[in-house]
Amino acid sequence: MPSRRRAPDSPKRLLPEKADAVSVSIRMNDNLNGESAGSLLTEAVELLSAAGINEPRSEASLLLRELLRVSKAWLMAHPEAIVSPDQQRRYVSSVERRAAHEPAAYIIGHREFFGLDLEVGPSVLIPRPETEMLVELAIDACERLLPAKGRDLVAADLGTGSGAVAIALAVRRPAIRIVAVDASQAALEVAMRNAERHRVMRGIEFRIGDLLEGVDERLDLLVANLPYVPSDEVDRLMPEVGRYEPRAALDGGPDGTMLIQRAMEQARGMMEAPATLLFEIGEGQGMALSESARSLYPGADIRVIRDYTGLERVLSIDIDSD
Ligand SMILES: C[S@@+](CC[C@H](N)C(=O)[O-])C[C@H]1O[C@@H](n2cnc3c(N)ncnc32)[C@H](O)[C@@H]1O
Repeated sequence: MPSRRRAPDSPKRLLPEKADAVSVSIRMNDNLNGESAGSLLTEAVELLSAAGINEPRSEASLLLRELLRVSKAWLMAHPEAIVSPDQQRRYVSSVERRAAHEPAAYIIGHREFFGLDLEVGPSVLIPRPETEMLVELAIDACERLLPAKGRDLVAADLGTGSGAVAIALAVRRPAIRIVAVDASQAALEVAMRNAERHRVMRGIEFRIGDLLEGVDERLDLLVANLPYVPSDEVDRLMPEVGRYEPRAALDGGPDGTMLIQRAMEQARGMMEAPATLLFEIGEGQGMALSESARSLYPGADIRVIRDYTGLERVLSIDIDSD
């Protein structure tokens, strides 16, 4: 990519001679006279694409909309709007961070999950759309279990992170008491702020701990999106994930299933039948995990559920009362 210089009356930014796919440095001088949203956007798209960022237009637009607090439609309709020097400075800083492959959700500090706006930061995994399937299945399980129990359900969310799963469940199914566990105190602090933001603090108890070790309740439902990436694959993940998301939220041990296996073993004596366990899993882990589940929960209905792209996504274990 050739270097480009702008006319002296507008802010200058230089692209390196050869844009490195991983680390492109975006530099701008201090000549900040206020530039139009459209021209800033065009320049940011070029820079992000030179840095090898996927969907550079939508990423550049997201960062600018966030800063200007405007809708997508507004930004498209007003490319001539002048961005103040201060906003421009902050936009360039956001674009530089994104060009270094920091995820947009960490830069803007939030992400939508299950229709809920959640705070995220470097201490928590950014909730993924595919995890919404775990919530849908947990809601279905509540519908089955509630009439059989005739009382509020008791559930555990293991590896709660930002609190995404527990909070979505509490918002949709208030007749449930949830113990949300994480090994990271920093993650739990984010999760508690998210629960406050969505007014479900009363229904969720956040606990620090190693899986179910600090949980002594009898459980009707267990949901868990625990780390399931095999250890030697963590360093090969795309930089947005491997370099920025917490390793403790990704690394699932040698074959990725270590924490899920441990949780299944711990939960064995804690489930109050009828009961359901739901684990998010990775592609290729279904067979080994269902075999373990069959030996730990004989007689249970054990299924590996695929997502809409056809990948193995959830291990479901339904335990009947008889
Ligand atoms: C894949 S992230 C999932 C976060 C959130 N549930 C979600 O779906 O977005 C896994 C989480 O498990 C936590 N974790 C890892 N090992 C753990 C353990 N032994 N006990 C409890 N939590 C653990 C990590 O800190 C991380 O927050």
